[in-house]
Amino acid sequence: MPPAEAAKKQQVAIDQSSSRNVVEELKRIIATKYPLVYVLTWEDQRLNNILKQVGEKAFSSPIKLYTWTLTDGLLDPAGNKIDNTEGPIAAINAIIKEKTTALFHLKDFHIHMNDAAVVRKLRDAYQALKNSYKTIFVSAPSIDIPNELAREIHLYDFPLPTISELKRLLGQMLQAQKNLKVELSDEEQQEFAKAALGMTLDEARVAFTKSFVGKSKLTIADLKIVVEEKSLMVRREGILEFVPIDFGIEEVGGLNNLKKWLETRTRFFTKEAEGFGITAPRGVLMTGVSGCGKSLCVKAISKYWKLPLMRLDMTRVFGGIGGNPEQAMQRALNTVEALAPVILWIDEIENALAGSREGDAGVTNRIFSSFLTWMQERQAMVFIAATANQIHMLPAEFLRKGRFDEIFFVDLPTEQERMDIFKVHLQKRGHDPSKFNLVNLAKGTNSFNGAEIEQCVVGGLFEAFNEKRPLHENDLYKMIGKMVPLATTMAETIKQIKRWADTRAVKAS
Ligand SMILES: Nc1ncnc2c1ncn2[C@@H]1O[C@H](COP(=O)(O)OP(=O)(O)O)[C@@H](O)[C@H]1O
Ligand SMILES: [Mg+2]
Repeated sequence: MPPAEAAKKQQVAIDQSSSRNVVEELKRIIATKYPLVYVLTWEDQRLNNILKQVGEKAFSSPIKLYTWTLTDGLLDPAGNKIDNTEGPIAAINAIIKEKTTALFHLKDFHIHMNDAAVVRKLRDAYQALKNSYKTIFVSAPSIDIPNELAREIHLYDFPLPTISELKRLLGQMLQAQKNLKVELSDEEQQEFAKAALGMTLDEARVAFTKSFVGKSKLTIADLKIVVEEKSLMVRREGILEFVPIDFGIEEVGGLNNLKKWLETRTRFFTKEAEGFGITAPRGVLMTGVSGCGKSLCVKAISKYWKLPLMRLDMTRVFGGIGGNPEQAMQRALNTVEALAPVILWIDEIENALAGSREGDAGVTNRIFSSFLTWMQERQAMVFIAATANQIHMLPAEFLRKGRFDEIFFVDLPTEQERMDIFKVHLQKRGHDPSKFNLVNLAKGTNSFNGAEIEQCVVGGLFEAFNEKRPLHENDLYKMIGKMVPLATTMAETIKQIKRWADTRAVKAS
């Protein structure tokens, strides 16, 4: 990697850590004399407070902060209205005319930036303010900058509150609760703050309130309310979802190697193991032919290890479902950490990469590199279970040692495994497998994958049910005869996957 690129990656990692100092960053922006700054945030009030603080304290002489809204117009620092500044153009005119050094925070102003006259006025303002100590801040929850302004506007990504900000908020809130007995050590308060990471200050306020409202005392047991609140928030955003645990490992046919691996690690997530000096496994990547049970296995791990399973949908991250993809991803990872110990499931991870390439490559790379950094450095017990059908599409750094404990290759089932899979699916639907010649069925389904075997059982059942008689082996053979397995239609792709996996992955069966 060229040094410049490495430095950039490093920079991203630093930017996204909670050690960002927003006061310093805003101070630098003001000192740089950017006339127009577009701040990406949901939190315009928190931004306003911090701008005020920066204006008052960061420079040798204080700088006034004016705030504009469509309903009030421009308000001076004391909250006095400046006459006739409600309209967006009138507001900009007043800003251009202002003689002293000042900051101007325009709330919801991005909505007006689709208006040609406003765009023109902002470009005038840019010229007028270029050499002054006046800065206009426009805050908005998404990037929506007209092309005409792209070169005049400086974009600033305002981070979510840090642990210390959240802890301060909690402290203030608890102090105001006169009738609440707070039985939290400093460390436990830190835990509360940590559980709220990824939330805006307002969201954290709601979560904290819920944890003690109507109670006479607050203990560490109430932490779960904050965590619950966060999981609700996560669902609303539509990027992460809790997957119900309803699959047992006994419902997976074959894949004995993988099962053994899981079995030996069952007790690794306990305090006991930690005391013994064992570090919990960090992740597994399952790759291979589709329809052979990769997704199935992830669901089974959750039940097997008795850990909650959260699924992260990367295509939704890149699709902008949760807003700005980088922030959404960061929030999701923070959330997952707060829910630890937990299994994080990323299904068909290569799709996210492929899908996003069409979009902004810069954003994709940044998200991916910060994800890799997080994978490497996360402290919390988050076990990553990733699956990939087309593993050769994944970037090499994703597969480097240390990211995953093991990379498994899930191949088409062997004859023995096909027997197992028939058994699983017959049993699951209430039919006694011992009444069927599993050996012959397995022989007859050479190069079928698990999903196809399941399809034969399901189809055979339909047939028998329609004819109002018990399921017969011939019903299964009839289905087998009709099926064209994927392995035939996709022989080339499968060969490619196998070739890749031969040297790089461990066989799951
Ligand atoms: N090894 C297996 N044992 C039992 N059922 C299987 C197996 N492999 C596939 N199946 C069936 O096929 C369906 C699809 O499998 P899935 O796990 O989604 O495949 P993959 O993720 O590898 O593409 C499963 O829901 C399951 O019913
Ligand atoms: Mg799958």
